[in-house]
Amino acid sequence: MTVEISLEGKVAVITGGAAGIGSGISRLLAEAGANLVINDISKDYLEEIVTDIEKQNAKKSGGAKVASVLGDIREPETLDRLKQTALDFSKQSVGKEQVDILINNVGDYRPSGRFVETDEEQWMAQFEITLKHVFSCTRAFLPMMVEAQSGAIVNNATVEAFRACPNNSAYTAFNAGIVAFTKTLAIEHGKDNIRVNAIAPDMANTLQTPADAMLRGRDPELIKSWVPLGRFGEPIDYGRVVLFLVSDLAGFMTGQTLMVDGGTMASSGWYGRYQKEGWTNLPDLN
Ligand SMILES: NC(=O)c1ccc[n+]([C@@H]2O[C@H](COP(=O)([O-])OP(=O)(O)OC[C@H]3O[C@@H](n4cnc5c(N)ncnc54)[C@H](O)[C@@H]3O)[C@@H](O)[C@H]2O)c1
Repeated sequence: MTVEISLEGKVAVITGGAAGIGSGISRLLAEAGANLVINDISKDYLEEIVTDIEKQNAKKSGGAKVASVLGDIREPETLDRLKQTALDFSKQSVGKEQVDILINNVGDYRPSGRFVETDEEQWMAQFEITLKHVFSCTRAFLPMMVEAQSGAIVNNATVEAFRACPNNSAYTAFNAGIVAFTKTLAIEHGKDNIRVNAIAPDMANTLQTPADAMLRGRDPELIKSWVPLGRFGEPIDYGRVVLFLVSDLAGFMTGQTLMVDGGTMASSGWYGRYQKEGWTNLPDLN
């Protein structure tokens, strides 16, 4: 049996899609033939990924296209341009105004100190970069999906929505909000044939959490005790899971958050300890 994932004829919008995990998602969706509208705050990364994808598309017969929208997704003006570009672009590329896939990817791991040392300004900044734009982007594109009675949304959360992250309480709280939002939206729109899922990454080698900075001054072998699969995640690892979630292969999945973490959540912190101490050295509970 050959299984192929094709997103030909689909239009996907992705926020923060030029670098890091977002770039892995953009590249994979483009590889599957989707027409892409990529938003990003970085002009250089945006130009780089659009050039790469255009080159990649030129080698294929499907004729998928890519458009870009430079700007901060927290700004209403950027969202207005993103929506207008998606409408114009879809008319041009698939013949009608349509957005089939929305990837809410932007977020920022921004340690701010113990909760007791933080203030409202920091919580609100974290709200804006983590959760608020997920609401506003979804609010902008969901009505088109309802109208079309079809759609797939993937939100990018974090494993820290499920476990503690000292010095980053607002980040954990708002990412848990993404997970809860994903579930409720999924239930509200199941009957509209719109699936809403999320990913919870960990240990990505990206601009936000570069592998070399995380290992600076440490034994590089330490990664093997941090992550059961023994390595950092690369953008493509997360892109593959998102591609699965937006494809027909996940046609009976909605409201879920998938851990894309090399096994860190399954190990719950025990893995590293017993990697070092030996699996037979378990605590004696008698
Ligand atoms: N790196 C990790 O290990 C990790 C772990 C858990 C969750 N995440 C989540 O994954 C997502 C992506 O993280 P990453 O590590 O790839 O980050 P990254 O910083 O490497 O990439 C983020 C991308 O978004 C763009 N961007 C940033 N702010 C933006 C804004 N306001 N408007 C538009 N574009 C913006 C950046 O230019 C960049 O292209 C985030 O939501 C993050 O919280 C990452």
